[in-house]
Amino acid sequence: MSDLDHDDEDYEDDDEDGFAPDWLALREPYDALARSERIAAALIARLPARPRLIDLGAGTGSLLRWLAPRIGRAQAWTLVDSDTALIEEAFETIADRAEAIGFKATFPSRKTLLVHAPGGAWRIEALVTDLAEAPRNLPLTAADAVLSSALCDLVSARWVDRMAAALRIPFYAALLVDGRDRIWPPHPEDGAVAQAFRRDQGREKGFGGPALGPAAPRAIAQAFAAQGFTVETAPADWVVQARGDTAAELPLPRAHTAAFLQQLLVGQADAAKRWMNGRTADRWLLDRLDRIDAGTLSLRTGHRDLLALPPVRR
Ligand SMILES: C[S@@+](CC[C@H](N)C(=O)[O-])C[C@H]1O[C@@H](n2cnc3c(N)ncnc32)[C@H](O)[C@@H]1O
Repeated sequence: MSDLDHDDEDYEDDDEDGFAPDWLALREPYDALARSERIAAALIARLPARPRLIDLGAGTGSLLRWLAPRIGRAQAWTLVDSDTALIEEAFETIADRAEAIGFKATFPSRKTLLVHAPGGAWRIEALVTDLAEAPRNLPLTAADAVLSSALCDLVSARWVDRMAAALRIPFYAALLVDGRDRIWPPHPEDGAVAQAFRRDQGREKGFGGPALGPAAPRAIAQAFAAQGFTVETAPADWVVQARGDTAAELPLPRAHTAAFLQQLLVGQADAAKRWMNGRTADRWLLDRLDRIDAGTLSLRTGHRDLLALPPVRR
């Protein structure tokens, strides 16, 4: 993967906003457990025989790995991201995981990966570009749906308005934070940390205005409804139960869960520190990390999946 489409070489390092590949790998199984099957099925029901899909902020390809087998037929994906290294990792990971489950993966050209799945091939290409410019830099005339996962709470209200005005095809946005976050057992500084973290979620994230953060599900629904789309949403929460006596029932290995929780809460404390006393945030974090080590921390992070469908043309 050395010959990707580029429209700009000058990108910032996004790791501080949580796009490091190891974090994306830790969250992938939790994202897979969280995404709404109902919303995915409603999207798939509206796709044509061989859908052409654009995945915005594709990262290492987690959404494709979850959704492509559910679509279960020939399909073409354009993975869009500003980070070349993540896109390169996406191609490698998709090919490796496909081969691990017995699907052949081939590269018919330097820009194209083909996964030979039983129901029909998945054709995968990439577009490295800054989505701040979207939708003008997207190949919309050759697409049947625009998809995203864990992206559209970073964008601004203006960005969503532009997207809704430009699209005449389904828009699917998975894993939008909605603010229904809980951690057990409670800590005296939970409120202060949560308030500072919420404030940071609204910081400008490179999309031409304050990020929507937890306002995303409602703001996106309103913007698309105003353009005549029918909008559906469903909860898609991360849920982690303290291991207690139920270790055998945990959906993921303990070490993975502990590393996921550690990175999640370190990221939240770092974000919160931009807006609150750093020592208070550090004390909160140390207590939370001790509980993760002891296996006594439970957590719910509220997300919603959203599907906006344009009116059916007759
Ligand atoms: C939270 S990650 C989600 C990645 C992937 N969709 C997933 O679910 O694992 C957000 C992704 O959006 C990308 N991104 C953020 N801002 C972007 C921008 N302005 N243009 C293009 N990609 C962007 C990041 O590089 C990152 O891969």
